[in-house]
Amino acid sequence: MSGYQGPLRILSGIQPSGGMHLGNYLGAIRKFVELQHQYECYYCVVDMHAITVWQDPAKLRAQTFHIAASYLAAGVDPNIAAIFHQSAVGAHAELAWIFNCVARLGWIDRMTQFKDKAGKDKERASVGLYTYPVLQAADILVYKATHVPVGEDQKQHLELSRDIAGKFNHDFDAEDFFPLPEPLIKGPGARIMSLRDGAKKMSKSDPSENACIFLSDDSDVIARKIKKAKSDPEPLPSEAAGLEGRPEAANLVGIYAALSGSSDAEVLKEYGGQGFGVFKPALAELVVEKLSPISAELRRLEADPGFLQKTLGEGAARAAAVADPVVKEVKEIVGFLP
Ligand code: AMP
Ligand code: TRP
Repeated sequence: MSGYQGPLRILSGIQPSGGMHLGNYLGAIRKFVELQHQYECYYCVVDMHAITVWQDPAKLRAQTFHIAASYLAAGVDPNIAAIFHQSAVGAHAELAWIFNCVARLGWIDRMTQFKDKAGKDKERASVGLYTYPVLQAADILVYKATHVPVGEDQKQHLELSRDIAGKFNHDFDAEDFFPLPEPLIKGPGARIMSLRDGAKKMSKSDPSENACIFLSDDSDVIARKIKKAKSDPEPLPSEAAGLEGRPEAANLVGIYAALSGSSDAEVLKEYGGQGFGVFKPALAELVVEKLSPISAELRRLEADPGFLQKTLGEGAARAAAVADPVVKEVKEIVGFLP
Protein backbone atom coordinates (compact mmCIF):
# COMPACT_ATOMS: atom_id res chain seq x y z
CA MET A 1 0.00 0.00 0.00
CA SER A 2 1.06 3.63 -0.35
CA GLY A 3 1.99 5.94 2.49
CA TYR A 4 -1.58 7.28 2.66
CA GLN A 5 -2.31 8.50 6.19
CA GLY A 6 -6.00 9.47 5.98
CA PRO A 7 -8.90 7.83 7.83
CA LEU A 8 -10.04 4.31 6.94
CA ARG A 9 -13.18 4.60 4.88
CA ILE A 10 -15.48 2.24 3.01
CA LEU A 11 -17.47 2.98 -0.13
CA SER A 12 -19.54 0.52 -2.09
CA GLY A 13 -22.45 0.65 -4.48
CA ILE A 14 -25.15 -1.44 -6.11
CA GLN A 15 -26.96 -0.59 -9.33
CA PRO A 16 -30.72 -0.05 -9.27
CA SER A 17 -31.05 -1.94 -12.53
CA GLY A 18 -33.25 -4.76 -11.19
CA GLY A 19 -34.15 -6.63 -8.04
CA MET A 20 -31.68 -7.34 -5.25
CA HIS A 21 -30.62 -10.98 -5.36
CA LEU A 22 -28.85 -13.62 -3.31
CA GLY A 23 -25.51 -12.89 -5.04
CA ASN A 24 -25.72 -9.20 -4.12
CA TYR A 25 -26.69 -10.14 -0.59
CA LEU A 26 -23.89 -12.64 0.01
CA GLY A 27 -21.24 -10.90 -2.11
CA ALA A 28 -21.89 -7.35 -0.95
CA ILE A 29 -24.65 -6.25 1.44
CA ARG A 30 -23.93 -8.79 4.13
CA LYS A 31 -20.40 -7.40 4.31
CA PHE A 32 -21.75 -3.83 4.40
CA VAL A 33 -23.57 -4.69 7.61
CA GLU A 34 -20.52 -6.17 9.33
CA LEU A 35 -18.19 -3.38 8.24
CA GLN A 36 -20.31 -0.46 9.41
CA HIS A 37 -19.10 -1.01 12.96
CA GLN A 38 -15.42 -0.94 12.03
CA TYR A 39 -15.15 1.86 9.45
CA GLU A 40 -16.73 5.11 8.34
CA CYS A 41 -19.05 3.77 5.61
CA TYR A 42 -20.69 5.23 2.49
CA TYR A 43 -23.20 2.98 0.73
CA CYS A 44 -24.45 4.26 -2.55
CA VAL A 45 -27.27 3.31 -4.92
CA VAL A 46 -25.45 3.87 -8.21
CA ASP A 47 -28.26 5.20 -10.37
CA MET A 48 -25.82 6.93 -12.77
CA HIS A 49 -24.21 3.56 -13.45
CA ALA A 50 -27.62 1.98 -14.03
CA ILE A 51 -28.42 4.34 -16.95
CA THR A 52 -25.39 3.13 -18.92
CA VAL A 53 -27.98 0.69 -20.26
CA TRP A 54 -31.57 1.77 -20.89
CA GLN A 55 -33.73 2.20 -17.78
CA ASP A 56 -37.38 3.09 -17.79
CA PRO A 57 -37.54 6.26 -15.61
CA ALA A 58 -40.46 5.11 -13.43
CA LYS A 59 -38.81 1.73 -12.84
CA LEU A 60 -35.49 3.41 -12.07
CA ARG A 61 -37.14 5.43 -9.30
CA ALA A 62 -38.80 2.32 -7.83
CA GLN A 63 -35.60 0.27 -8.07
CA THR A 64 -33.59 3.01 -6.38
CA PHE A 65 -36.00 2.81 -3.43
CA HIS A 66 -35.78 -0.98 -3.60
CA ILE A 67 -31.97 -1.05 -3.31
CA ALA A 68 -31.99 1.54 -0.51
CA ALA A 69 -34.69 -0.46 1.32
CA SER A 70 -32.63 -3.65 0.87
CA TYR A 71 -29.60 -2.04 2.54
CA LEU A 72 -31.78 -1.09 5.50
CA ALA A 73 -33.65 -4.40 5.64
CA ALA A 74 -30.38 -6.34 5.70
CA GLY A 75 -29.25 -4.31 8.70
CA VAL A 76 -27.33 -1.27 7.48
CA ASP A 77 -28.04 1.45 10.06
CA PRO A 78 -28.50 4.88 8.41
CA ASN A 79 -27.48 6.56 11.65
CA ILE A 80 -24.08 4.93 11.30
CA ALA A 81 -23.44 4.50 7.57
CA ALA A 82 -24.48 7.10 4.97
CA ILE A 83 -26.98 5.59 2.49
CA PHE A 84 -27.62 7.75 -0.56
CA HIS A 85 -28.15 7.78 -4.32
CA GLN A 86 -25.15 8.64 -6.45
CA SER A 87 -26.88 11.25 -8.63
CA ALA A 88 -27.68 13.33 -5.52
CA VAL A 89 -23.98 14.00 -4.90
CA GLY A 90 -22.73 15.96 -7.90
CA ALA A 91 -19.09 15.51 -6.86
CA HIS A 92 -19.09 11.95 -8.30
CA ALA A 93 -19.75 13.20 -11.84
CA GLU A 94 -17.32 16.10 -11.50
CA LEU A 95 -14.47 13.87 -10.41
CA ALA A 96 -15.39 11.29 -13.05
CA TRP A 97 -14.75 13.84 -15.79
CA ILE A 98 -11.31 14.63 -14.45
CA PHE A 99 -10.60 10.89 -14.14
CA ASN A 100 -11.69 10.43 -17.77
CA CYS A 101 -8.71 12.61 -18.57
CA VAL A 102 -6.39 10.61 -16.30
CA ALA A 103 -7.37 7.06 -17.33
CA ARG A 104 -5.82 5.73 -20.56
CA LEU A 105 -7.82 4.24 -23.40
CA GLY A 106 -5.71 1.08 -23.25
CA TRP A 107 -6.70 0.51 -19.62
CA ILE A 108 -10.42 0.79 -20.34
CA ASP A 109 -10.11 -1.39 -23.44
CA ARG A 110 -9.11 -4.28 -21.20
CA MET A 111 -12.26 -4.21 -19.04
CA THR A 112 -14.07 -7.51 -19.44
CA GLN A 113 -17.40 -6.27 -18.02
CA PHE A 114 -17.74 -3.85 -20.95
CA LYS A 115 -17.10 -6.67 -23.39
CA ASP A 116 -19.69 -8.87 -21.67
CA LYS A 117 -22.33 -6.17 -21.43
CA ALA A 118 -21.82 -4.59 -24.84
CA GLY A 119 -21.98 -8.01 -26.53
CA LYS A 120 -21.21 -8.41 -30.21
CA ASP A 121 -22.61 -5.08 -31.33
CA LYS A 122 -20.37 -2.76 -29.33
CA GLU A 123 -20.88 0.12 -31.75
CA ARG A 124 -24.38 0.44 -30.33
CA ALA A 125 -23.35 0.46 -26.64
CA SER A 126 -23.54 3.81 -24.83
CA VAL A 127 -20.35 5.79 -24.28
CA GLY A 128 -21.29 5.71 -20.58
CA LEU A 129 -21.04 1.92 -20.55
CA TYR A 130 -17.49 2.25 -21.80
CA THR A 131 -16.37 4.79 -19.20
CA TYR A 132 -18.42 3.06 -16.46
CA PRO A 133 -15.32 1.95 -14.49
CA VAL A 134 -13.97 5.51 -14.49
CA LEU A 135 -17.15 6.70 -12.77
CA GLN A 136 -16.74 3.82 -10.34
CA ALA A 137 -13.21 5.01 -9.51
CA ALA A 138 -14.66 8.49 -8.87
CA ASP A 139 -17.35 7.01 -6.56
CA ILE A 140 -14.63 5.47 -4.45
CA LEU A 141 -11.97 8.16 -4.52
CA VAL A 142 -14.26 11.15 -4.03
CA TYR A 143 -14.46 9.87 -0.43
CA LYS A 144 -10.80 8.86 -0.42
CA ALA A 145 -12.16 5.42 0.46
CA THR A 146 -9.46 2.98 1.49
CA HIS A 147 -11.53 -0.23 1.31
CA VAL A 148 -14.25 -1.44 -1.04
CA PRO A 149 -16.41 -4.50 -0.23
CA VAL A 150 -17.56 -6.13 -3.49
CA GLY A 151 -18.10 -9.50 -5.12
CA GLU A 152 -15.36 -11.12 -7.16
CA ASP A 153 -16.67 -9.77 -10.48
CA GLN A 154 -15.52 -6.27 -9.48
CA LYS A 155 -11.86 -7.15 -9.00
CA GLN A 156 -10.75 -5.71 -12.33
CA HIS A 157 -12.63 -2.44 -11.76
CA LEU A 158 -10.92 -2.07 -8.39
CA GLU A 159 -7.52 -2.55 -9.98
CA LEU A 160 -8.39 0.21 -12.42
CA SER A 161 -9.37 2.51 -9.52
CA ARG A 162 -5.95 1.91 -7.99
CA ASP A 163 -4.26 2.68 -11.31
CA ILE A 164 -6.22 5.92 -11.70
CA ALA A 165 -5.43 7.00 -8.11
CA GLY A 166 -1.74 6.22 -8.63
CA LYS A 167 -1.54 8.05 -11.95
CA PHE A 168 -3.32 11.13 -10.57
CA ASN A 169 -0.97 11.25 -7.56
CA HIS A 170 2.03 10.86 -9.83
CA ASP A 171 1.04 13.20 -12.70
CA PHE A 172 0.13 16.07 -10.40
CA ASP A 173 2.97 15.49 -7.99
CA ALA A 174 0.41 14.98 -5.24
CA GLU A 175 1.98 12.07 -3.40
CA ASP A 176 -0.55 10.07 -1.38
CA PHE A 177 -3.36 12.52 -2.17
CA PHE A 178 -5.59 9.58 -3.06
CA PRO A 179 -5.28 6.24 -1.25
CA LEU A 180 -4.92 3.14 -3.41
CA PRO A 181 -8.24 1.48 -2.48
CA GLU A 182 -8.16 -2.15 -1.39
CA PRO A 183 -10.90 -4.54 -2.48
CA LEU A 184 -12.55 -6.59 0.28
CA ILE A 185 -13.61 -9.64 -1.69
CA LYS A 186 -12.64 -12.75 0.22
CA GLY A 187 -15.05 -14.89 2.13
CA PRO A 188 -17.82 -17.32 1.22
CA GLY A 189 -20.37 -15.84 -1.15
CA ALA A 190 -17.95 -13.73 -3.21
CA ARG A 191 -19.13 -15.45 -6.37
CA ILE A 192 -22.61 -17.00 -6.44
CA MET A 193 -23.47 -18.69 -9.72
CA SER A 194 -26.72 -18.95 -11.67
CA LEU A 195 -29.02 -21.77 -10.52
CA ARG A 196 -29.42 -22.79 -14.15
CA ASP A 197 -25.77 -22.71 -15.21
CA GLY A 198 -22.83 -23.19 -12.85
CA ALA A 199 -20.52 -21.36 -15.26
CA LYS A 200 -22.47 -18.06 -15.23
CA LYS A 201 -22.70 -15.67 -12.28
CA MET A 202 -26.08 -15.10 -10.69
CA SER A 203 -27.33 -11.87 -12.22
CA LYS A 204 -30.41 -9.64 -12.17
CA SER A 205 -30.48 -9.61 -15.92
CA ASP A 206 -30.51 -13.39 -16.48
CA PRO A 207 -33.27 -14.20 -18.96
CA SER A 208 -34.14 -17.46 -17.16
CA GLU A 209 -36.47 -16.62 -14.29
CA ASN A 210 -35.26 -19.61 -12.29
CA ALA A 211 -31.58 -18.60 -12.42
CA CYS A 212 -31.70 -16.04 -9.68
CA ILE A 213 -33.19 -15.85 -6.16
CA PHE A 214 -34.45 -12.35 -5.42
CA LEU A 215 -34.79 -10.91 -1.91
CA SER A 216 -38.42 -10.23 -2.80
CA ASP A 217 -39.18 -13.91 -3.65
CA ASP A 218 -41.61 -15.58 -1.26
CA SER A 219 -40.92 -18.99 0.33
CA ASP A 220 -42.77 -20.98 -2.35
CA VAL A 221 -40.88 -19.28 -5.16
CA ILE A 222 -37.55 -19.86 -3.42
CA ALA A 223 -38.36 -23.55 -2.84
CA ARG A 224 -39.44 -23.96 -6.49
CA LYS A 225 -36.31 -22.28 -7.86
CA ILE A 226 -34.04 -24.47 -5.74
CA LYS A 227 -35.97 -27.61 -6.69
CA LYS A 228 -35.49 -26.70 -10.36
CA ALA A 229 -31.84 -25.73 -9.91
CA LYS A 230 -29.49 -27.59 -12.22
CA SER A 231 -27.56 -30.34 -10.44
CA ASP A 232 -26.13 -33.72 -11.41
CA PRO A 233 -27.10 -37.34 -10.77
CA GLU A 234 -24.26 -38.13 -8.34
CA PRO A 235 -24.60 -37.97 -4.56
CA LEU A 236 -22.65 -35.19 -2.82
CA PRO A 237 -19.00 -36.03 -2.15
CA SER A 238 -17.80 -36.23 1.43
CA GLU A 239 -14.88 -33.85 0.87
CA ALA A 240 -14.58 -30.45 -0.85
CA ALA A 241 -12.10 -31.76 -3.44
CA GLY A 242 -14.90 -33.97 -4.82
CA LEU A 243 -16.78 -30.83 -5.97
CA GLU A 244 -14.19 -30.17 -8.64
CA GLY A 245 -15.68 -30.44 -12.12
CA ARG A 246 -19.20 -30.25 -10.61
CA PRO A 247 -19.92 -26.49 -10.82
CA GLU A 248 -23.65 -26.71 -10.03
CA ALA A 249 -23.10 -28.93 -7.00
CA ALA A 250 -20.26 -26.66 -5.85
CA ASN A 251 -22.51 -23.61 -6.15
CA LEU A 252 -25.37 -25.12 -4.12
CA VAL A 253 -22.98 -26.32 -1.42
CA GLY A 254 -21.30 -22.89 -1.46
CA ILE A 255 -24.63 -21.12 -0.94
CA TYR A 256 -25.40 -23.42 1.98
CA ALA A 257 -21.99 -22.77 3.51
CA ALA A 258 -22.20 -18.98 3.05
CA LEU A 259 -25.67 -18.78 4.60
CA SER A 260 -24.92 -21.10 7.51
CA GLY A 261 -21.60 -19.43 8.31
CA SER A 262 -19.66 -22.66 7.75
CA SER A 263 -17.38 -24.06 5.04
CA ASP A 264 -17.92 -26.41 2.09
CA ALA A 265 -16.05 -29.10 4.06
CA GLU A 266 -18.40 -28.77 7.03
CA VAL A 267 -21.49 -28.88 4.81
CA LEU A 268 -20.17 -32.01 3.13
CA LYS A 269 -19.44 -33.64 6.47
CA GLU A 270 -23.16 -33.45 7.09
CA TYR A 271 -24.51 -34.09 3.56
CA GLY A 272 -21.75 -36.15 1.89
CA GLY A 273 -23.25 -39.30 0.34
CA GLN A 274 -26.72 -37.75 0.11
CA GLY A 275 -28.40 -36.99 -3.19
CA PHE A 276 -29.94 -33.68 -4.24
CA GLY A 277 -33.38 -35.06 -3.29
CA VAL A 278 -32.28 -34.61 0.33
CA PHE A 279 -29.91 -31.66 -0.02
CA LYS A 280 -32.13 -29.33 -2.05
CA PRO A 281 -35.03 -29.22 0.46
CA ALA A 282 -32.52 -28.59 3.27
CA LEU A 283 -30.99 -25.76 1.26
CA ALA A 284 -34.40 -24.29 0.44
CA GLU A 285 -35.30 -24.32 4.13
CA LEU A 286 -32.06 -22.53 5.03
CA VAL A 287 -32.45 -19.88 2.30
CA VAL A 288 -36.04 -19.19 3.39
CA GLU A 289 -35.03 -19.03 7.06
CA LYS A 290 -32.26 -16.50 6.35
CA LEU A 291 -34.00 -14.37 3.72
CA SER A 292 -37.60 -14.22 4.94
CA PRO A 293 -37.00 -11.76 7.82
CA ILE A 294 -35.11 -9.52 5.40
CA SER A 295 -37.78 -9.72 2.71
CA ALA A 296 -40.54 -8.97 5.23
CA GLU A 297 -38.66 -5.84 6.36
CA LEU A 298 -37.97 -4.95 2.73
CA ARG A 299 -41.71 -5.04 1.93
CA ARG A 300 -42.49 -2.90 4.96
CA LEU A 301 -39.90 -0.28 4.00
CA GLU A 302 -40.87 -0.21 0.32
CA ALA A 303 -44.39 0.71 1.38
CA ASP A 304 -42.97 3.92 2.90
CA PRO A 305 -41.23 5.86 0.11
CA GLY A 306 -41.43 9.07 2.15
CA PHE A 307 -39.16 7.57 4.79
CA LEU A 308 -36.78 6.18 2.16
CA GLN A 309 -36.57 9.54 0.37
CA LYS A 310 -35.79 11.27 3.66
CA THR A 311 -33.11 8.71 4.55
CA LEU A 312 -31.48 9.05 1.12
CA GLY A 313 -31.56 12.84 1.36
CA GLU A 314 -29.89 12.85 4.76
CA GLY A 315 -27.29 10.34 3.57
CA ALA A 316 -26.57 12.48 0.49
CA ALA A 317 -25.99 15.56 2.64
CA ARG A 318 -23.53 13.64 4.82
CA ALA A 319 -21.79 12.22 1.75
CA ALA A 320 -21.53 15.61 0.02
CA ALA A 321 -19.95 17.12 3.14
CA VAL A 322 -17.02 14.74 2.61
CA ALA A 323 -16.96 14.62 -1.19
CA ASP A 324 -17.30 18.33 -2.03
CA PRO A 325 -14.08 19.45 -0.29
CA VAL A 326 -12.17 16.61 -1.99
CA VAL A 327 -13.34 17.78 -5.42
CA LYS A 328 -12.51 21.37 -4.53
CA GLU A 329 -8.97 20.33 -3.72
CA VAL A 330 -8.69 18.21 -6.88
CA LYS A 331 -9.74 21.20 -8.99
CA GLU A 332 -7.00 23.30 -7.42
CA ILE A 333 -4.43 20.55 -7.97
CA VAL A 334 -5.43 20.24 -11.63
CA GLY A 335 -5.07 24.00 -12.14
CA PHE A 336 -8.70 25.15 -12.39
CA LEU A 337 -9.32 28.67 -11.11
CA PRO A 338 -11.53 28.90 -8.00
P1 AMP B 1 -24.55 -5.20 -9.22
O1 AMP B 1 -25.84 -5.90 -8.98
O2 AMP B 1 -23.87 -5.64 -10.48
O3 AMP B 1 -24.64 -3.71 -9.05
O4 AMP B 1 -23.57 -5.72 -8.06
C1 AMP B 1 -23.62 -5.21 -6.75
C2 AMP B 1 -22.69 -5.94 -5.84
O5 AMP B 1 -23.04 -7.33 -5.74
C3 AMP B 1 -21.22 -5.93 -6.30
O6 AMP B 1 -20.38 -5.84 -5.17
C4 AMP B 1 -21.06 -7.26 -6.97
O7 AMP B 1 -19.73 -7.72 -6.97
C5 AMP B 1 -21.94 -8.14 -6.10
N1 AMP B 1 -22.44 -9.28 -6.88
C6 AMP B 1 -23.23 -9.23 -7.99
N2 AMP B 1 -23.50 -10.46 -8.45
C7 AMP B 1 -22.87 -11.33 -7.61
C8 AMP B 1 -22.78 -12.75 -7.54
N3 AMP B 1 -23.40 -13.53 -8.43
N4 AMP B 1 -22.06 -13.30 -6.53
C9 AMP B 1 -21.44 -12.51 -5.61
N5 AMP B 1 -21.48 -11.17 -5.62
C10 AMP B 1 -22.20 -10.57 -6.59
N1 TRP C 1 -19.79 -1.73 -10.71
C1 TRP C 1 -20.41 -2.20 -9.51
C2 TRP C 1 -21.24 -3.43 -9.87
O1 TRP C 1 -21.75 -3.57 -10.92
C3 TRP C 1 -21.29 -1.17 -8.87
C4 TRP C 1 -20.50 0.00 -8.40
C5 TRP C 1 -20.52 1.28 -8.89
C6 TRP C 1 -19.57 0.02 -7.31
N2 TRP C 1 -19.69 2.08 -8.19
C7 TRP C 1 -19.09 1.35 -7.23
C8 TRP C 1 -19.11 -0.95 -6.45
C9 TRP C 1 -18.12 1.70 -6.29
C10 TRP C 1 -18.15 -0.58 -5.50
C11 TRP C 1 -17.66 0.73 -5.42
O2 TRP C 1 -21.40 -4.26 -9.06
